[in-house]
Amino acid sequence: MVIRGSKLIQILVFYLTGLHCMEMALTGAVACMDSEQEALLKIKEGFKDVSEPFSSWTAEEDCCNWRGVGCDNTTGHVTMLDLHSRDPSSKLIGKVSHSLLDLPYLSHLDLSHNDFQKILIPDFIGSLKYIKYLNLSNANFWGTIPGSLGSLSHLESLDLSGNGFFLRAENLSWVYGLSSLKVLDLGGVDLSNTEDWLDAINMLPSLVELGLFFCKLHKLPQNFNHVKFTSLKILDLSLNNFSSTIPDWLFDIGHSLVYLNLSRCQLHGVIPDAFRNLTSLMSLDLSENNLEGPIPLTLGLFQEQGERNRSSSLRKLFLSSNGLNGSLARSLAQFSQLAVLDVAMNNMEGNITEAQLQKFSSLRVLDLSSNRLALKVSSDWTPPFLLETIGLRSCLLGPKFPQWLRSQKNFSAIDISNAGIVDVVPDWFWNLSSKIMYMNMSFNELKGHVPDFSSQHQLSELDLTGNNFSSPLPRFSANTRILFLAKNSFFGHISNLCGILSINNCLNYLDLSSNNLWGEIPDCWKYGQNLIVLNLANNNLSGQIPNSTGQLIRLNTLRLENNILSGEVPSSLKACTELTALHLANNRLLGNVPTWIGENLQKLEFLSLSSNSFSGNIPRQLCQLQNLNYLNLSSNSLSGAIPPCAFPGMMIDYFDTNRDMSYPYMAYSDSVKLTFNILDLSSNDLSGRIPTEVMSFHGLIVLNLSGNHLVGPIPPNIGEMANLEALDLSRNSLSCTMPASMINLTFLAVFDVSFNHLSGEILRGGQFATFSDSSYIGNPQLCGSPLSKICSSNESLGDPHCNTEEGDEEKQGIQKEEQHGFKIPSFYLSMGLGFIVGYCGFWGSLVLNKSWRYAYFRFLGNMNDKIYVMVAVGAAKLKRKFQHQQAPK
Ligand SMILES: *[C@@H]1O[C@H](CO)[C@@H](O)[C@H](O)[C@H]1NC(C)=O
Ligand SMILES: *[C@@H]1O[C@H](CO)[C@@H](O)[C@H](O)[C@H]1NC(C)=O
Ligand SMILES: *[C@@H]1O[C@H](CO)[C@@H](O)[C@H](O)[C@H]1NC(C)=O
Ligand SMILES: *[C@@H]1O[C@H](CO)[C@@H](O)[C@H](O)[C@H]1NC(C)=O
Ligand SMILES: *[C@@H]1O[C@H](CO)[C@@H](O)[C@H](O)[C@H]1NC(C)=O
Ligand SMILES: *[C@@H]1O[C@H](CO)[C@@H](O)[C@H](O)[C@H]1NC(C)=O
Ligand SMILES: *[C@@H]1O[C@H](CO)[C@@H](O)[C@H](O)[C@H]1NC(C)=O
Ligand SMILES: *[C@@H]1O[C@H](CO)[C@@H](O)[C@H](O)[C@H]1NC(C)=O
Ligand SMILES: *[C@@H]1O[C@H](CO)[C@@H](O)[C@H](O)[C@H]1NC(C)=O
Repeated sequence: MVIRGSKLIQILVFYLTGLHCMEMALTGAVACMDSEQEALLKIKEGFKDVSEPFSSWTAEEDCCNWRGVGCDNTTGHVTMLDLHSRDPSSKLIGKVSHSLLDLPYLSHLDLSHNDFQKILIPDFIGSLKYIKYLNLSNANFWGTIPGSLGSLSHLESLDLSGNGFFLRAENLSWVYGLSSLKVLDLGGVDLSNTEDWLDAINMLPSLVELGLFFCKLHKLPQNFNHVKFTSLKILDLSLNNFSSTIPDWLFDIGHSLVYLNLSRCQLHGVIPDAFRNLTSLMSLDLSENNLEGPIPLTLGLFQEQGERNRSSSLRKLFLSSNGLNGSLARSLAQFSQLAVLDVAMNNMEGNITEAQLQKFSSLRVLDLSSNRLALKVSSDWTPPFLLETIGLRSCLLGPKFPQWLRSQKNFSAIDISNAGIVDVVPDWFWNLSSKIMYMNMSFNELKGHVPDFSSQHQLSELDLTGNNFSSPLPRFSANTRILFLAKNSFFGHISNLCGILSINNCLNYLDLSSNNLWGEIPDCWKYGQNLIVLNLANNNLSGQIPNSTGQLIRLNTLRLENNILSGEVPSSLKACTELTALHLANNRLLGNVPTWIGENLQKLEFLSLSSNSFSGNIPRQLCQLQNLNYLNLSSNSLSGAIPPCAFPGMMIDYFDTNRDMSYPYMAYSDSVKLTFNILDLSSNDLSGRIPTEVMSFHGLIVLNLSGNHLVGPIPPNIGEMANLEALDLSRNSLSCTMPASMINLTFLAVFDVSFNHLSGEILRGGQFATFSDSSYIGNPQLCGSPLSKICSSNESLGDPHCNTEEGDEEKQGIQKEEQHGFKIPSFYLSMGLGFIVGYCGFWGSLVLNKSWRYAYFRFLGNMNDKIYVMVAVGAAKLKRKFQHQQAPK
C-alpha cells in the first residue's frame, strides 16, 4: 500500500489564494460598528449550543477582536467571518442567519465543517455583493445550489465540496457570472444532470484550481475547441465515470497545468503522447482506470520544443491499477527525476537492473507491485535513493534476501510479499527503520527468528503470512492494528497471546492460524474490544472456548476450526452480535446447537459447526438468520427433521452481492467470506422429508444432504435452484422418480443420488449427459443410461404412490463405512487451471472485476488453496457473469 503525498495541492492552494493573509489578526484603532456587532450576535443566535468560537464574543470586547471576525483596519467594517470548525466535536449546528446581509462589506465567509442540517444554501448568499471567498464545504447543505450565487461577480474562491450527493446542480449556467473566479471546488456535488459542465467552466478564464472529483459526471467531451481556462494549475476530475478515452483538449490547457488527477474515471485507451505538451506538470494521477498499451516514451520528458536537456517538471506519477503493458525498463530513463513512481497492478514486464536505477536520486516512493517484473541487482549494490515507501509485491527479488535494503533506513512502508525470497531474514533488516508502520513480507519462504517488536511503536500492520518463520510468538507494541502471522511455524503456548492483548491495545485483526500453537485459549480477551477478526484455526488448541470471548463485542469473524477444543460453546458468545462468520468446525465441541446463535447473531452469514459432536435437533431459531448464506452442520450427530427455513441469504446470487473485499477485511484471515452459498447438513442422523423451502434457495451453489435418513421424494421444485453446481443427496432413503425440473440445473457439475430408493428413469439431456453411473448406484429401481438396467415402459412412469404422504417409509440405516466424503475440492482441483482458462482465461476472470483482482493480488500473490478452490468452483459463475464483457484484446 502506498501512502500518497498530497502536500503539493495544499501548498499550491496556500500560495495561490493568499489565504494566509486573511488569517492575520487585524487589530487597529478603528472599532467595530454597532450595527455590525448586532448583526454578528444575530448570526450567533442562529446556532444551537454555542461555546466555541463564541466565548470571546462578549460586549466588553470590540467585535473586530472576536474570534473568527476580521475588520477592515481603516474603515472598521467587518470583512471576514470565519466560523469553520476545527474538529468534529466542535461543529456548529444551526442555520445561516439573514443578518449576514447586515455585514455589507463582508468579503470572506467560511462556514465549512459545520452542520446546517440538510437545509438549502440560502438564496440571499447571492446578495453578499463584495464576497470574494465563500467556503461552505462539508457543512451538510442539501438541495439544488441556488442560481443566485451567479451574481457574485467578485467571487474568487468558491468551495461547496464535501456536502454529498444531496447537494446538486441541474446545470452550471450560474457560474457564467463568476467572472473573477480562481478556485472552484464542487467535489462530491451531484452534477450528473449538468451536460454543460465543460462549457460553463470555459466561461471562467481566470480559473486556477478546479475540483470536480466525485461529481457523478459521466460525460467527458472528446471534441472541444477553444479551451479558455489556460491559467488552470490544478485540475481534479477523479472519481467520475467517463467511460471514454483521454481527450485532446486537456493538452490545450498547456503550460499552466501543474496537477492533474484523472484517477478512477473509467478511462480506457492508451496514454496519449500529447502529455508532453503539459510542460509544467508536476503531479499526474491516472491510476485505477482501464488504460492499456505501453507507457509513452515521451511521458515525463516534458521539454519545450527545441530545448534539450531541460529537466522535466514531473515529480509524481501514479499509474497503478490499469492494464498497461510493455517493458518498464525501457521507460525508466525518462523517469529518473521522479520522487514518486507508482505503476503497481499493471502488466508491465522486464528485468530491472541497477544501472537503470542509478539516476533515481530523488525517489521516495517506489511501487512496482503486481506486474511481471524482476529486480536484478548485485548483492553489493547501494541504491542512489532513500525510499519512504517500498512496494515490490510480486516482483521477483529472490531467492536471496535483497541486500540493498540495508541502505534503506528511512522507510515507513514495505511490501516485499510473494517476491520469491527463500532465505533467512538477516538481523539487520529487523532493526532498519524505526519509522516502520506497514510491513508485508507474506508468501515468501522466509526463515529465522522473528524478534521482539514491542519497541516498534509506529508499527501498525504486519503481515508475515505464509513463510517458514519458527519462533515463539513475538511481542508487539499496543499500537499494532493488524497482525497476520498465519501459515508459519510459530510455536509455544497460546497464553503468550495475552502479551499482545495488553491494556489499551489497538488490535483489529489477529490471525495466528496454521501454526504450532498449543494449550488452552487464555481468558485474556477483556482488552480485545477492538478486535474485528480473530483467527486461531489450524493449531493444537485444547480445552474450552473461554467465556470471556463474549467480551469481543466488535468481533466480525471468529475462526477456531481444526483444533481440539472441547465442551460446549459458551453462551457468553451471544454478546458478539457483530459476528458475520463463526467457524468452529473440526473440534470436539458438544451439546446442542445453541439456539442463541439464531436469536442473537443476526448478522451471521457464515456458520460452520461441522465435524464436532453436536447432538439434538437443528434449532428452528437458525431460520431467523436473514443473511446466512453458508451453513455447514455436517458430520455431527444431529437428529430430527430439517427445519423448513427460508434463508433469504441463500436466495441471493453470490456474485450479485457487494462484499467488502477491501484490505485487510478480505485478507487471508477472512477468506471464509469468499465462500459461496452452501448448505451442508451431510453425515448426521436427520430424518423426515426434504423441506420444499430449501428448493427456493436460488443462490445456492452447493447442497449436500447426504448420509442422513431422509425419506420421501426429492421436492419437485428442485429445478428452481438455478445456480446449483453441486448436489449430493446420496445415502438417504429418498424415493420416487427424479423430478423433471432437475433438467433446469444447467450448472450442475457434481451430482450424487447413489444409495437411495429412487425409481423410474434417469433424466436425459442437459448436465445429466455428463454424470457416470457412480452418481446413481445403489438405487435398484432406477433405470436408463448410464446404468445398465434398461427401462421397461411402466418403470419410466415411476412409482404411482409417490405423491402421497408416506409416514411409514422404511428408514434404512446408512452405512457410515460407505462414506466417500464430499468431493468438491478434489473434483475441481482435478479440473484445475485448465478448466478456468478454458472457460474465460484465468486472468480474464480476475481482470474483469477489480475487486476480485485486488483480493487475488493482495492476499494470495501465490496460490492459496482455499481461494484456488473458490475460484475454481465459482468459475462457471464467473464465466456467465463476465463472458459478455470479456476484456478486449
Ligand atoms: C487523486 O484522486 C484520488 C481520488 O480522489 C485520490 O485518492 C488521490 O490521492 C489523488 N491523487 C493525488 C496524486 O493527489
Ligand atoms: C491594514 O491592513 C493592511 C493589509 O490588509 C496592512 O498592509 C496594513 O499595514 C494595515 N494597517 C494597519 C494600520 O494595521
Ligand atoms: C474550505 O475550508 C476547508 C476547511 O475548513 C479547507 O480545507 C479548504 O481548503 C477550504 N477551501 C478553499 C477553497 O479554501
Ligand atoms: C438551470 O437550472 C435551474 C434550476 O436549477 C433552472 O431554473 C434554469 O432554467 C436552468 N438553466 C438552463 C439554462 O437550463
Ligand atoms: C460507467 O458508465 C458506463 C456507461 O455509461 C456504465 O455502463 C457503467 O456501468 C458505469 N460504471 C460504473 C462503475 O458506474
Ligand atoms: C502539442 O503541442 C504541439 C506543438 O506545440 C502541437 O502541434 C500539438 O497540436 C499539441 N497537441 C495537442 C493534443 O494539443
Ligand atoms: C529476465 O531474466 C531472466 C533470467 O534471470 C531471463 O530468463 C528472462 O528472459 C529475462 N527477461 C527479459 C524480458 O529480459
Ligand atoms: C463459563 O461460564 C459458565 C457459567 O456461565 C461456567 O459454568 C463455566 O465454568 C465457565 N467456564 C470457564 C472456562 O470459566
Ligand atoms: C425449466 O425452467 C423454465 C423457465 O423457468 C420453465 O418454463 C420450465 O417449466 C422448467 N422445466 C421444468 C421441467 O420444470
